[in-house]
Amino acid sequence: MRVFHLSAECYPVAKVGGLADVVGALPKYQVKAGINAAVAMPFYDRKFTHEHEFDTVFQGLTLLGTRRLYFEVLKERYDSLGFELFLIKIPGLIDRTEVYCYPDETEQFIAYQIAFLDWINWSGQTPDIIHCHDHHSGLVPFLMQHSNAYKRLADIPPVFTIHNGQYHGAFSWNKLDYLPDIDLTKTGLLDWNGGLNPLAAAVKCSAYYTTVSPSYLEELSYNSNGLEYLFHIERHKGIGILNGIDTEVWNPATDPMIASRYSTARITQGKQKNKAALCARFNLDTSLPLVAFIGRLVGEKGADLLPEAFERSLNEHAGKVNFLMLGAGDTTTEEQLTALSHKYAEHYAAFVGYDEALAHQVYAGADFLLMPSRVEPCGLNQMYSLRYGTLPMVRSTGGLKDTVTDFGDEGGYGIRFIHASVDDICHSVSRALVLYGNTAQLQKLRKTMMALDFSWDRSASEYINLYNRIISAS
Ligand code: ADP
Ligand code: GLC
Repeated sequence: MRVFHLSAECYPVAKVGGLADVVGALPKYQVKAGINAAVAMPFYDRKFTHEHEFDTVFQGLTLLGTRRLYFEVLKERYDSLGFELFLIKIPGLIDRTEVYCYPDETEQFIAYQIAFLDWINWSGQTPDIIHCHDHHSGLVPFLMQHSNAYKRLADIPPVFTIHNGQYHGAFSWNKLDYLPDIDLTKTGLLDWNGGLNPLAAAVKCSAYYTTVSPSYLEELSYNSNGLEYLFHIERHKGIGILNGIDTEVWNPATDPMIASRYSTARITQGKQKNKAALCARFNLDTSLPLVAFIGRLVGEKGADLLPEAFERSLNEHAGKVNFLMLGAGDTTTEEQLTALSHKYAEHYAAFVGYDEALAHQVYAGADFLLMPSRVEPCGLNQMYSLRYGTLPMVRSTGGLKDTVTDFGDEGGYGIRFIHASVDDICHSVSRALVLYGNTAQLQKLRKTMMALDFSWDRSASEYINLYNRIISAS
């Protein structure tokens, strides 16, 4: 079975968040499970593309409205990621250093989708499944089914996975001419709330859509940034498949990025050494419990709550707790979090920016990982944290609810709270500190956490089962 994954991100080619981790791992595990999975993503001018060798496998000209665009498809020569990687390059439009935030993002991602379809169409390929991830490839199902340009591809079933229903990629109707030779009687499929909405179009045009956790599937019908009614009426097509984690990349026993490698058998010494290295770097006291946050500083992650929650906890438990923050995003939050590090230098440190290796070191060295997310479609941080024996403190939502049980409940191992509020965060910090005082219990919980299995094997085969179901129904 030949499957193409379409995504704006893929680790380690280009990563902004968890989407990259998923698209860098799922195809690898699918290949291991015996299917021919590949990734086709936009080209980026980044470290990975500089350091790897590529062959140009296709060159063509495409149209974006009236704009003629030359494009190339590059294939990574040695399949070093464990699957075939194809990059769509359009000089001047898809050859940039950053993944998002360009003023012509709409043009960038539409051109990517059209060039991909032109390539497989003109090169005579007929994959069994085209698996689109998030709105950046959300127009592909519509184009395959309702554009005369891609009639040959009309029977290829699309699968659409929603990693984040808050972002839709919507744009205005005056750009409709970007979509080549479409059936104008079908434009209702593109519409939501007066705009052209790629996320909505993908849900409408796919036989099934998936969400990255079962709980998030339910949440979309009351929290999806304006698409609630759509998810309500299309609920029957939705399937929740929990993400896995790449246990080859995220393994404390082999991780080359951390100070000291450890397995469950060496958990106490291992975590202590990593904590000591981390605390030394940030000038924090190793003997105190260390609560960390890693993530994008945006409302979805509850990042705006952190400055007040940290400050209140630092006062409430003066000299008894340390906090470490690794993140970037909203500038006001960045400034507030940086300001705290001057005021509470001995017990709090902030690293504003993106640092992959540091993230590994924090998962390994911290005692607790805080995730007060307002919305969390799956969340990978808590699963990494569990794998490194670091107790997650999570708001009960989406994938956090599906992966973390409270240590107060039978068989539980984390801390859960109900509201994305400063009060709830501070209360969970107090609970964490009490737990920290009970070394034997913490030790037991760490062992339980590290023994949990969130590897991709299970989820990768759930996707393959879904592909088989779709293929046999089509
Ligand atoms: P999201 O995709 O919504 O950002 P996830 O929990 O799915 O959230 O994935 C976040 C990923 O990004 C994880 O791999 C996490 O370690 C990483 N990450 C987030 N912020 C940073 C940062 N500032 N530095 C390094 N890694 C980060
Ligand atoms: C999105 C979600 C996150 C999820 C990730 C990977 O970025 O915000 O919760 O883990 O995608 O599916």
